[in-house]
Amino acid sequence: MRIELGAADLEEGELRGYDLGKRAVCVARVNGRYKALDDWCNHAGCLLSGGRVDGNLVVCPCHEVGFDLDSGANATSPGVCDDQPTARVTVEAGRLILDVEEG
Ligand code: FES
Repeated sequence: MRIELGAADLEEGELRGYDLGKRAVCVARVNGRYKALDDWCNHAGCLLSGGRVDGNLVVCPCHEVGFDLDSGANATSPGVCDDQPTARVTVEAGRLILDVEEG
């Protein structure tokens, strides 16, 4: 299933959260590319979109765990929490499109 999130107008290094009801995603723009992770941090549920981009990581605002934007890997704090689920976003005609598995 494809969900249109809105305009692909993020600034470089910007994060933006999208509440989709049963799911929320955090989209970041890094080196001109859009990348996404689940927004609810798997450690204690804070919103990653309230954090910051550091290189290719999103750093959670609550306990500073950094998640890799490509793999979702917990890149800074092994053992503190799991890797973060990723999401796939593309840009079509200037709009951000999220691909979600149905089920
Ligand atoms: S809630 Fe994200 S690191 Fe703790």
